[in-house]
Amino acid sequence: MAYFYIVFLALLVACSGLVSSTFVWKHHNNEELPLVLEEIHEKCPNITRVYALTEPSVRNVPLYVIEFSDSPGFHQPYKPEVKYVGNIHGNEVLGRELLLGLADYLCERYLNHDRKIKTLIHTTRIHLLPAMNPDGWQLSTETGAKDYLIGRNNNHSVDLNRNFPDLDAITFELERQGINHNNHLLRDVTRLTAPVEPETRAVIRWMMAIPFVLSAALHGGDLVANYPYDESRSGAPVSEYSASPDDDTFRDLAMTYAESHADMADPQRQGCRVSNSDDSTSYNFGKQGGVTNGAAWYSLKGGMQDFSYLATNAFEVTLELGCKKYPPTEELEEEWHKNREALLAFIWKAHIGIKGIVGDDSGFIKNAIVSVVNITGPVPRPIRHDITTGDYGDYYRLLTPGHYEVTAIHPGYFPVSRVVTVPHHQTAARILNFKLEPKTSWFDDYTYGSFPYGLHDGQPRIYKRSLYEQVTNMMLEKKDTKH
Ligand SMILES: *[C@@H]1O[C@H](CO)[C@@H](O)[C@H](O)[C@H]1NC(C)=O
Ligand SMILES: *[C@@H]1O[C@H](CO)[C@@H](O)[C@H](O)[C@H]1NC(C)=O
Ligand SMILES: *[C@@H]1O[C@H](CO)[C@@H](O)[C@H](O)[C@H]1NC(C)=O
Ligand SMILES: [Zn+2]
Repeated sequence: MAYFYIVFLALLVACSGLVSSTFVWKHHNNEELPLVLEEIHEKCPNITRVYALTEPSVRNVPLYVIEFSDSPGFHQPYKPEVKYVGNIHGNEVLGRELLLGLADYLCERYLNHDRKIKTLIHTTRIHLLPAMNPDGWQLSTETGAKDYLIGRNNNHSVDLNRNFPDLDAITFELERQGINHNNHLLRDVTRLTAPVEPETRAVIRWMMAIPFVLSAALHGGDLVANYPYDESRSGAPVSEYSASPDDDTFRDLAMTYAESHADMADPQRQGCRVSNSDDSTSYNFGKQGGVTNGAAWYSLKGGMQDFSYLATNAFEVTLELGCKKYPPTEELEEEWHKNREALLAFIWKAHIGIKGIVGDDSGFIKNAIVSVVNITGPVPRPIRHDITTGDYGDYYRLLTPGHYEVTAIHPGYFPVSRVVTVPHHQTAARILNFKLEPKTSWFDDYTYGSFPYGLHDGQPRIYKRSLYEQVTNMMLEKKDTKH
């Protein structure tokens, strides 16, 4: 008997070495966080990869990401890339734990052959950065996790969600001048108002290295899904609606999260600032469907959300996950149940609209421009935010249901336009490929008029290139191919 017992024990120990421990809902510290990611990777080695961004925090804590994909480490054409970023404000910690829980859930459901999760992972590349500001988390935790502000900033006392280059100012100025140069505006930055912090720099490089399509930043302190722009057109710290060219699509993205969340969109729920009875109603986002335009709430400069939209092809929203910035441990699991469907539904949104490859006879075309006119209503309305093709000539254009005229443009080729209908309830984008014909040398741009939406070479540019451009390019555009 004793012999069998010992064999049994030995087996148990051997197994527990292989089968990783189950995920526990608690506040994971900066040492535990990478261990959780590593355990998930060991459980699901074929569909995950753990990596750190190019630089650590001020206090030298690596910024870890876990990636889910059926070919971890590689972008594949027709597969949109999505990211979630948590704990940007160090004392807003729910997103950090939810992303760890989400990672464990994706792995577990995949192993259990959950068909929807398997399809999601086979068609999407998902990156989760649970903590962008581990130093702030440390300070907030060590000081009792109570204060509304302590631990918000990084260790240089900088608010990371005010530290991104202000591209709104550039796009608003271009709008005023009637110049339709409307995307990838980082190269138009002539001066930085403040040094870029290491955490911000790491995230900017990440954004530049991976062709993200959809993104959300996870915050706390209120319960609302906030969409661009965050900055008012006047730049003044006022509350005024500041619509982006993709306002309809952004509202749809934000509403998807709010409506899939247990109570974000509930009109009966209480607002977060109930103590101040005078202005409690103005902050009760439940009464407006759980969503808000950023600047309509309050205007801010240098946020990550607007930067993402104006510097890359990624559409980003900001999710305020609850009134409590640092909820107690015993509430974490309940919060997970409130947010789980919303976190998944939002990732599926990377599959709305259209996608495809722009190419010519001999292959694909990088950096082609894909522009869209909304022809759903009686009056055609150009959406003045172009998307560009990536390293495999692929593009992803999120759109809400309707009819659109889509044009692919690249210097040296004739533009090609196609009409497409975007249906309701998509779980896969409509595929719309373009084959461009090169212009022969005796044709020039003037023969066929100028490009309809791109910036023409001779057109005046108000933002002069400067030394700063070289500096920022050197700093930011050094692509790390390992990502
Ligand atoms: C990973 O893939 C290999 C080869 O396809 C397979 O044998 C193995 O069972 C997979 N492992 C897991 C945990 O899915
Ligand atoms: C920076 O980190 C050190 C060590 O954790 C801490 O003592 C200090 O208060 C932090 N400073 C700020 C501004 O967060
Ligand atoms: C296109 O126009 C229709 C009707 O005006 C609208 O419902 C839809 O949201 C618009 N799409 C986008 C992406 O703006
Ligand atoms: Zn925040």
